Amino acid sequence: MPANSDNGVLLSPSIIASDLSTMGRDVSAFDPAAFDLLHLDVMDGNFVPNLTFGPGYIRALASHTSIPLDIHLMIERPELSLEAYLELVPWCLTIHYESTRFPSRILQTIRKAGVRAGLSVNPATPIEALYDLSGECDLILVMSVDPGFYGQAFMPAALDRIRRLRGHLDSTAGGAGTLIQVDGGISVKNIGEVARAGARVIVAGNAVFGADDPNRAARELKRAAADGMRAV
Ligand code: DX5
Ligand code: ZN
Repeated sequence: MPANSDNGVLLSPSIIASDLSTMGRDVSAFDPAAFDLLHLDVMDGNFVPNLTFGPGYIRALASHTSIPLDIHLMIERPELSLEAYLELVPWCLTIHYESTRFPSRILQTIRKAGVRAGLSVNPATPIEALYDLSGECDLILVMSVDPGFYGQAFMPAALDRIRRLRGHLDSTAGGAGTLIQVDGGISVKNIGEVARAGARVIVAGNAVFGADDPNRAARELKRAAADGMRAV
């Protein structure tokens, strides 16, 4: 379950921006000092228009790596397939606030399984809508694009949402330990600001796998995040 956190920020490269057909071989070359987590975008063609992979693919991939799994479920009614993802014992299992009528029950089930419980929020959902559930979350994922595709442009409004959420968590009993994750349009240009705003788990798809050398790109992102935090 442990993940590296040498500069206080965990980088979670999103593999949908890479070649999924060769990932079983490619994953062994990832630098564990920069690939703190593997971000796995599960899309069902229903909650989001895109379709990716499910627990079978993730299980096969996990047999080739010890990098902890950061599973982001973009599926309708995740309560119906939760067990299959919990069996993979990920570092974190994240559901979407907008995908279910029973977020609280699902978060409790995830925690009971000994897995970090994550709750993700789309850009169009007021961040305050999650406040009453924050005590049930180990991680809150603030989307900085509409979910569904990699390679989209970062929405700057996410910065203020992260700051407000951080303020809320820090003012709540037990909330200081809840991590904020950000996902969508992250690059070396904005990762410092995102870290400074309060995000400590940062997803990057295109910025890592769109580069000629993903390891180098991941190391540069981590460095830029650390620089951004030092600039506080
Ligand atoms: C978007 C996904 C993201 C995406 C990130 O729906 O949840 O994880 O892969 O890719 P970039 O960093 O390219 O926006
Ligand atoms: Zn994601």
